[in-house]
Amino acid sequence: MNTQILKDTIQQIFANGKGILAMDESTPTCIKRFEAAGIPQTTEMYRKYRELIVTTPGLNESIGGAILFDETIRQKTDDGEPMAKVLIKAGIISGIKVDMGAKSLAGFPNEKVTEGLDGLRERLTEYKTMGACFAKWRAVITIGDGIPTNACIEANVHALARYAALCQEADIVPIVEPEVLMDGNHTLQQCYEVTERVLKALFYELYQFKIDLEGIILKPNMVIAGKDCPIQNSIDEVAEATVNCLRASVPASVPAIAFLSGGQSPKVAAEHLNAINKNFKDRLPWIVAFSFARAIQQPALDAWKGEQSNMEEAQKLLCKYAKMASTARLGKYNS
Ligand code: 13P
Repeated sequence: MNTQILKDTIQQIFANGKGILAMDESTPTCIKRFEAAGIPQTTEMYRKYRELIVTTPGLNESIGGAILFDETIRQKTDDGEPMAKVLIKAGIISGIKVDMGAKSLAGFPNEKVTEGLDGLRERLTEYKTMGACFAKWRAVITIGDGIPTNACIEANVHALARYAALCQEADIVPIVEPEVLMDGNHTLQQCYEVTERVLKALFYELYQFKIDLEGIILKPNMVIAGKDCPIQNSIDEVAEATVNCLRASVPASVPAIAFLSGGQSPKVAAEHLNAINKNFKDRLPWIVAFSFARAIQQPALDAWKGEQSNMEEAQKLLCKYAKMASTARLGKYNS
């Protein structure tokens, strides 16, 4: 492992207020999103959409890294250029989602464990030849009646740590993503407690597996009430709970935290990120940035509708929401 390579990759991704665009939706997720937007669910449409994203003029002003799906990193634009190469030319670093999805955890109803460790060393070697400098693995934790169980948390953080070790061995920066879902009617306080429990278990496991914390990016959820909770908190309350929870659980040696948006609208996700960076500037030992998918892409996908004639408008929206996230990263977003 070459720690300097890992650190340089992280610095480049987040230079000048930039963040990460997650454009690594798996095929089942693409089917869901395209269906909802009324777009045909074909491999060619997914390719066209990804081409729209990577060729967006000015995207590199706010985006320093983009996470690709296996299908996309193997695809080319209409001009015959590999997608990862188009990104590199724009100064955007390519990343790759390497997990194989969250599957039902046997014996634990409503809980999941993320699979994909088998053959990962070989896959990382191949992705590196395709230009990937960082990777992503997403674990999913659900809050509900009697869950998450310790078994679920431990299975997931174990997999995250083994994934992170394989990435670092290959000089690829692991994005470590333990997502506590917003689905459910839990309160902000319940989200706080579960997120803290998960992060503490995660960092213990990363320590066991000798992960160099200076060479990872943490991708957590914000601390926020469930979508169906009758009590929804203010922007400042979410920001404060999130900062307190992270300070209680994330070592200062982690260089960067990049939030997922988790189903928040672009505006709300930006407002939360902005409040975190603005109100708590002196309490953040890490870069606190974004790795949004929906909170950057959704308006563009809706505007595109699968039509060539809407491409320019969609690209403008993509740029607009990427810029919004980047401004929030600097605590300079005015809603
Ligand atoms: P959202 O920002 O839509 O939650 O997606 C981020 C992501 O990459 C989840 O793994």
